[in-house]
Amino acid sequence: MINIAILGFGVVGSGTCEVLSNNADIIKKRIGEEIYVKKILDLRDFPDSPYASRVTHEADEVFSDPEIKVAVETIGGARVAYDYTKRALSNGISVVTSNKELVSTHGPELIKLAKENNCVYLFEAAVGGGIPIIRPLYKCLAANNILKIAGIVNGTTNYILSSMKNEGISYEDALKEAQKKGYAEADPTADCEGIDAQRKISILSTLAMDGKYCNPEYVHAEGISKLTTDDIELAKALCCELKLIAYFANNGDGTASAFVAPHFVDKACMLSDVEGVFNAVLVEGDYLGEAVFYGRGAGSYPTASAVAGDVLEACLKDSVDMEFRAWDDTVSVFKDYDDIKSDFLVYSKTEDVASLIDGADKIDSVSGINAVIVRSISEKDLIGKIAGNSAIGYKHYLK
Ligand code: HSE
Repeated sequence: MINIAILGFGVVGSGTCEVLSNNADIIKKRIGEEIYVKKILDLRDFPDSPYASRVTHEADEVFSDPEIKVAVETIGGARVAYDYTKRALSNGISVVTSNKELVSTHGPELIKLAKENNCVYLFEAAVGGGIPIIRPLYKCLAANNILKIAGIVNGTTNYILSSMKNEGISYEDALKEAQKKGYAEADPTADCEGIDAQRKISILSTLAMDGKYCNPEYVHAEGISKLTTDDIELAKALCCELKLIAYFANNGDGTASAFVAPHFVDKACMLSDVEGVFNAVLVEGDYLGEAVFYGRGAGSYPTASAVAGDVLEACLKDSVDMEFRAWDDTVSVFKDYDDIKSDFLVYSKTEDVASLIDGADKIDSVSGINAVIVRSISEKDLIGKIAGNSAIGYKHYLK
């Protein structure tokens, strides 16, 4: 029997207990051992839970217990969760988490600490909830150079944009609806300002660059709070979908780019059909070509599914190759946003944008809007070309 602990018995922590308990038989068959949740660390009591007797408020009871091999950190944030994760790893207890904030901000230190103490720090659930994306990136695709990642990695914002489009409602009303349905947090800043997506793309970018750390602090993030129904209508007129995209590109010269911004996504792109709270991550590898990982990016059970999968991996760490590439934060290969070149869709109802910008591809619109695609240009240089003409607008473009 392998004993584990749950740190934080919220939506994901309790969901993980359910997965491990309800599928205990198949799990035992697959790893040859029973997994037993021995302790649950939380400030609260859960008198009605079948796990009530295992709840403790004393961290020492978990970290000093030599029988506990794996801790599931589902506290969130980067304060208490950071302290507890360090304590667990320092004591040789593997940690499994869905905490993208902690992984993205302290990943280099925590992965190193795990290695030094002969245990593992795993975070499949930190990006895309239940969608397998972390392990596919560093294991199944290990023979590829990862050239590009474009992800819809925040369910709340995708839900809001879908509602604005499908129901013709404002950003504010769509946000209220998302909060009512329990998708958005009461304080939706991290979701709506692109910070949650910024953390997630920093994790994916680090993996795509073989552990060269992408610090989220330096990843440009623009959210959706300034978008209006006019932007949605414009997207429709230009045969695109308006999506919040977390983007990574390997520039092929040793540098890489990562940023988060609203994009006009061409209908030809596989991400354009991703609606509601669903997530999707498009990965391009030099031999893979393009593949899309699609599914439920949040919620108790999908996230618990990924967490529980990592628990099994952590339990098997002695018999399975669990070598995780170290994350190196001593060099940065990620470009400043001002130097990042990407594609833009530039539009105007009155100006002939094609004549203003050399080499741009003119595109057809269904309602007489002049529009061109300008490729591989920095936003700073694009603004220079538009020269303050308020009749011209633009958005990042993805095909
Ligand atoms: N707030 C996140 C989202 C939860 O809406 O996608 C999952 O990370």
